[in-house]
Amino acid sequence: MSSKNSTPSHDHDAVIKPSREFSKNSRIPSMAAYKRLYQESIDKPATFWAREAAELDWHKKWTKVLDWKPPFAKWFVGGKLNVCENCVDRHAAGPRRNKAAIIWEGEPGDKQVITYGQLQREVCRFANVLENKGVKAGDRVLIYLPMIPEAAYAMLACARIGAAHNVVFGGFAAEAIADRLEDSGATTIITADGGWRRGKVVPLKPVVDLALESYQNVNHVIVVNRCHTDTPMTSDRDSWWHDDIKGVSTRHKARAFDSEQPLFLLYTSGSTGKPKGILHTSGGYLTGTHSSFKYIFDIREQDVYWCTADIGWITGHSYIVYGPLANGATQVMYEGAPNFPDFGRFWKIVEDHGVSIFYTAPTAIRAFIRAGDQFPDAYDLSSLRLLGSVGEPINPQAWNWYHRKIGGGKCPIVDTWWQTETGAIMISPMPGATPCKPGTATHPFFGIDAAILDDSGNECKAGEDGRLVIRKPWPSMLRSIYGDKKRYETTYWSDYPGLYTAGDGARRDKQGNFWIIGRLDDVLNVSGHRLGTAEIESALVSHPAVAEAAVIGRPDDLKGQAVSAFVILKAGNKESPELRETLRKHVAKVIGAIAKPDDLYFSPGLPKTRSGKIMRRLLKELVATGTISGNVTTLEDFSVIDHLKNQLSRPS
Ligand code: PRX
Repeated sequence: MSSKNSTPSHDHDAVIKPSREFSKNSRIPSMAAYKRLYQESIDKPATFWAREAAELDWHKKWTKVLDWKPPFAKWFVGGKLNVCENCVDRHAAGPRRNKAAIIWEGEPGDKQVITYGQLQREVCRFANVLENKGVKAGDRVLIYLPMIPEAAYAMLACARIGAAHNVVFGGFAAEAIADRLEDSGATTIITADGGWRRGKVVPLKPVVDLALESYQNVNHVIVVNRCHTDTPMTSDRDSWWHDDIKGVSTRHKARAFDSEQPLFLLYTSGSTGKPKGILHTSGGYLTGTHSSFKYIFDIREQDVYWCTADIGWITGHSYIVYGPLANGATQVMYEGAPNFPDFGRFWKIVEDHGVSIFYTAPTAIRAFIRAGDQFPDAYDLSSLRLLGSVGEPINPQAWNWYHRKIGGGKCPIVDTWWQTETGAIMISPMPGATPCKPGTATHPFFGIDAAILDDSGNECKAGEDGRLVIRKPWPSMLRSIYGDKKRYETTYWSDYPGLYTAGDGARRDKQGNFWIIGRLDDVLNVSGHRLGTAEIESALVSHPAVAEAAVIGRPDDLKGQAVSAFVILKAGNKESPELRETLRKHVAKVIGAIAKPDDLYFSPGLPKTRSGKIMRRLLKELVATGTISGNVTTLEDFSVIDHLKNQLSRPS
């Protein structure tokens, strides 16, 4: 089994235990307590999850915890709830009414503190706006917004009226939006004129307009005036958020929805060119995010939590909106870039708001290390008590710096492994219990039956690489791929019948810790963002000059992986630096800037097997090492390799 990232083998590494002080005050204060609860959650999942679900408000209690007809699960069957009420109203109705729900900071420095009471008014009012426009339960609503409070209001308002939101990350381009509109059949869009990023306005509404040139079924585009830019509006279709809410009631009676009511679609990359609409539903998803947030972030009433992810990714859904708000937490939300006006911005926010729990990605940590210690050194970070990491394996150097420089050596780090599909964290330390080693996500969360299997389905021994699987259903699991049950079955459930395959390689050490090695499929992880090689290839091939393309990930110190593209031009096109730049920009135009190839090589051919399959393994090795050492006996045309070697020795 091969891996994309350098292989960890850390049996010998130092173990870092949580301090006695931290353990004493935490929900799960020891490994014995973790093991007891974990065992119960595996032996009697219905008992465990029923207890967790009972912490939410239900209009009608379920009759059965789980209905499992592999690979289709229904959780809390017959139960009825309103997800938004659980995140907003139940807090606004009690002592948390005037507690800050969101402490928001815009990149230019504007600030807003939104209490649970205010959140309720804003969300209710916007729910009324949506209903006034005819949006109904079961409809799909596309959200393309920067990190502003309206993003949370919009998601929660959709949840409140039973419409499924589909948030699209602001870095995606018009074609990506059009594809998602087409696939989801959304008829309403919520966007903004733009958002602030590194001191500049990133336009959003113009991108929506471009997408709507090819997709005509949208009736309403609601636009937040975030940046006061001159934005063209199409009458009859477009309206301003601030106009729509004028005079609209801030009260809205929430209806109860079935536990399996779709809550959202979130598109993610897989091994084919077409992104998958991951479908999450209500009762199980909220139970999973509520429970994991409570235990893993060990949330306390007085905590100030901050997750730096964008709302356009699953982390923003589960650990900015649903998990923290369902727990009645106070959180920081920040609009802009970590390095604006300089690399001290995050640390200034921590100091200014007294952040106590901080959750970010390894790629950001590596960028901070590179920027220099003078930035964190200039701020008081002593309010921090717990740190988190998500999105890719955290390399020990980054882990140690994070622990020492940001956490002052006293904060446990929860390295959380999970996926868009899993909805909630699956493998992570319990901060008050688990001895940590830099680089391992350690042990499964409650109810998660994780294992590592070899190709024949046997469980791997300690130290052996294998495929990460989950052997039992869990409440926040994806229910399907929107509109494509077959693809759901074949992608996730066909490697080992009845078991969920994550697509990641992993290994356990002698203490049972899970070490995630990286993706086993053709999915890249660039700065914690998931991109399919096939998606980028199809974007390249959509350019008239390109005959064929192959894309691979190469190891990169900062981003984890960088995108390397190999392109065969159609006859009549000449290789040139200008064309290289045009093609890189073309990918950014089709998918978004995050997918722009870092290197692009022209080649007369690609290494292929005799049956015509591109040998990506060779391309990866070539790019990483400049040569080929492995077995090439199945290669069809050896001269291609020599040509590529020459190309690689020249700068791209
Ligand atoms: O390869 C794993 C990696 O990110 C993939 C999931 O990507 P996405 O659906 O975009 O969700 C990211 C945020 C949850 C996984 O298949 N990954 C995520 N977290 C970790 C990780 N790899 C190692 N360690 C992690 N903590």
